[in-house]
Formats: sequence, structure tokens, C-alpha cells
Amino acid sequence: MNNGRIPKISFRNAEKTFYSSSGESHTALTAGNLDVYKGEFLCLVGPSGCGKSTAINLMAGFEQPTGGSVLIDGEPVLEPHPDRIMIFQDYGLFPWKTALDNVMFGLRCRGIKEVDAKKTALAALESVNLTAEAKRHPHELSGGMKQRVALARALAVEPGVLFMDEPFAALDAFTRLRLQDELLDIRKKRQITVIFVTHDLDEAIYLGDRVVVMAANPGRFEDIITVDLPYPRDRTEQSFDHYRKKLFHAFNLVHNSERKHSNTQQVTASL
Ligand SMILES: Nc1ncnc2c1ncn2[C@@H]1O[C@H](COP(=O)(O)OP(=O)(O)O)[C@@H](O)[C@H]1O
Ligand SMILES: [Mg+2]
Repeated sequence: MNNGRIPKISFRNAEKTFYSSSGESHTALTAGNLDVYKGEFLCLVGPSGCGKSTAINLMAGFEQPTGGSVLIDGEPVLEPHPDRIMIFQDYGLFPWKTALDNVMFGLRCRGIKEVDAKKTALAALESVNLTAEAKRHPHELSGGMKQRVALARALAVEPGVLFMDEPFAALDAFTRLRLQDELLDIRKKRQITVIFVTHDLDEAIYLGDRVVVMAANPGRFEDIITVDLPYPRDRTEQSFDHYRKKLFHAFNLVHNSERKHSNTQQVTASL
């Protein structure tokens, strides 16, 4: 049910099959439908290889579907767009540039005047608590700080959509929790649609308005869980545990069906 909300991103029977040079094919994502609403924080969770990155790359325009379509604001996504920014696990910073220059890079690319670019970049660094680190290079920063720079660089250009592919996966648990809160703070202040890929179920429940459960072999959207808890959420509350159980349940079903599927294959193979 969309409650009258506007879909920002829509999968319309979108699928992705990769073909190798030897002619073999592998369907990373089977035809599926999904609507992401404007301003929504949507998490994609699932085991490795279930097509999470494929799905987010289709939305970001890094890949094209081999069937169906992916629409943003009703238009097929044909290529990356300056209003949509991707943040990866490995930060993607230029090692030879300072934090400030990394953040200014996207602004300079947009032809923004140097003085304005600097002002905006400093404000973006401040919003992720990195004012003191503006002059440092990436090798002088911790993993958490580097990911904050990447976040500041993304936010500086005020994107309408933020794609995040396991952005906190390389960080230690405490840094990760802090960055989750910072991300929610940022989201509270801006009208931004966030697509966040993770394989951490707690992270998905803590952050997402909805959580899309994906399954592998073949990669697909299996289930959608609406997390009906106000922000900020409390991981120690029973209501949070309710969603934890719900997600585990969803994954047990997925695993059971995979086991059943492989059992069936074994039985068939032995016939
Ligand atoms: N460029 C590619 N060429 C061939 N196969 C790919 C390519 N990208 C991904 N795949 C395959 O598609 C499946 C889904 O990959 P991916 O979307 O990266 O999964 P996830 O992000 O959930 O781990 C995997 O089996 C992967 O090996
Ligand atoms: Mg991935």
C-alpha cells in the first residue's frame, strides 16, 4: 500500500542477466517489481550474491536491465545522474587530495565558483563533524573519518537520491553505530531518498522505513517489511526485537526454501 505517496524509484519487471565471453549466462536479479517512495529510507538485505549490488547499480544507472525497466521520477534510468550519488564501502576518495579538496571536487565539477565551493564543502564537513580534519589527507584519517568525508562529498551537492552499498561494512562496530546515527541526523534535515544495502539485519531495522529481504539463487526481492518504529530507535527494546525476529523468520523461510530447492535437485539428480 502506498498511502498516496509518490514512487521515486520503480522496478518494473526489471531483471539483470550477465553473459560471459564464453556465452554462459547468469541471472543476478530475476524480474521483479519494487517501488521506493520519495524521501524514503529503504534498506536492501540479503546474503552475499543475492543481487543487492546489482539492484542498486541498476537504480544508479551503472548497469542496464536486460529485461523490464527501472524508472526514476517516471523516466527510465539510462545512465548515472548528478542528482543521484553512490557511496561505496571503500570510500572512493582521491588519496592525493585533502578532505576539503575531496569534498570540493564534486562542486568544482559542477562549475561552482571556488569561493562558494569552499564554503559549501566546509559546511558539509562540519555536518559530519570533520571541521578539524579538513586539511588532512585520507591516509591520515580513520576508516570512519574517510567514510564521513565520502558522505560530506555526497551531501555537498545536495542529491535527491543517495545510494549506499554496504557503506559501513569495513568499519568497527562502535564507529558503525555512530555513523548510523549521523546518517539518520542528516536524513532528518534533508528531503532525500536513501537506498542502503547491508547484510546486517540490525542495521537495516535501525535505519530503514522499510526493509527489502532479498534471496539468492536466483537473486530476487523476496519480501518487504515495514519497520513501524519511531526514530531514534532503541535496539534493546522489545519492539525492536519483534522486527529482528520477523527478519530472521523471513531469512529462515528463505533458507528453508533454498534447502528444499537443493534437496529437490538432489532427489531429481538421483532419479
Ligand atoms: N559483472 C558481472 N558479471 C557476471 N556476473 C556478475 C557480475 N556482477 C555480479 N555478478 C553475479 O551476480 C550475482 C549477484 O551479484 P551482486 O549483485 O554483486 O550480489 P551481492 O551484492 O548481493 O553480493 C553474483 O552471483 C555475482 O557473481
Ligand atoms: Mg554487493
